[in-house]
Amino acid sequence: MAIATAHAKVILAGEHAVVYGQPAVAMPVCTLSCEVGIVDSPDGLTSFVADAYPGRFLAGAHEEHPLSFLEELLGWLFRDELPRWGVELAGPPPLSISVRSEIPIGAGMGSSAAILVAATRSLFAHYGITPPTSEIQRLAHAAEMGVHGRSSGLDVAAAVHSAPVLFTTGDPATALAIGAPFDLLIARSGVQSLTRKVVLDVLERRKREPAVIDGLFGQMGDIARRLAEAISQGELSAMGRLMNRNQELLTDLGVSCPDLDRLVAAAQEAGALGAKLTGAGRGGCMVALAEPVLVGSIRQALLEAGAVEVHVYHVDPGAVAEDVDLKLAMRGGGRSGQPRSPRIE
Ligand code: MEV
Repeated sequence: MAIATAHAKVILAGEHAVVYGQPAVAMPVCTLSCEVGIVDSPDGLTSFVADAYPGRFLAGAHEEHPLSFLEELLGWLFRDELPRWGVELAGPPPLSISVRSEIPIGAGMGSSAAILVAATRSLFAHYGITPPTSEIQRLAHAAEMGVHGRSSGLDVAAAVHSAPVLFTTGDPATALAIGAPFDLLIARSGVQSLTRKVVLDVLERRKREPAVIDGLFGQMGDIARRLAEAISQGELSAMGRLMNRNQELLTDLGVSCPDLDRLVAAAQEAGALGAKLTGAGRGGCMVALAEPVLVGSIRQALLEAGAVEVHVYHVDPGAVAEDVDLKLAMRGGGRSGQPRSPRIE
């Protein structure tokens, strides 16, 4: 069986603005991952199973099923992409596809992007091919456009890397050095949110009030650039202030909601350096930045404020060292021991 994985992400600055050309900063969350396995079908039928949904879904059975987006992805890869790698088949062969995921669905943590990345990697692995990361990123992003309608590619960029990334649509991601370790608390509100719907609502509002919305996006882009710098320099207080300011702008944009506001306030009152919603908003998750000594009390405050789950993610320079692509990018360049932020090609 070919098996491939990808992981979750949180956005530390710039969601929504990134869809309109501004930069954003995302932090891959490597402790929450998904796994897609692909094997030749034993019964001649292409089918999909996932631990999140009961039952087995058959390809071509006309009704929509929760994994239809994977069916579309595989059909497209067989038709348009695999032939370029020498895999020429009369039609898609019968396969059994299984998905296991720890990433909450509809929670703004990049679940669908991670599944698309893992499925793309897995299908290529099934044919003994390992395309470069940039190619996996391109394919999964194209497929994500089908899922979300409009997508910046930020979630996919975070799903294929382990270092934090500064990302602008159309450019290769820039991996950020981590100047000082920090902890993130990711709290799930329990309110499900559809990225596609929130992105569409923002699009509609921008049509009505272009100057106001572009003004907010410009400020968010500026925050993302400054946050990237603060992460590289290890300036945790500045990072926290920028996250708090980004949350105010997201509230002005109209994508926060009472549950997220309550969690953000609880984290700030418990001593978080910064806190904001993450992802499309209107539900899903929020993220707080904390010094290690306060992680326990902030976690407790979030649970008391109604979080259904709190995931603590410790980030340190080791995360950068583990990023294969970053290591490639660092070769032939900077002096060792000096934080720098190479571009990921
Ligand atoms: C969703 O995780 C982030 C958004 O900015 C959409 C996108 O970047 O495609 C809301």
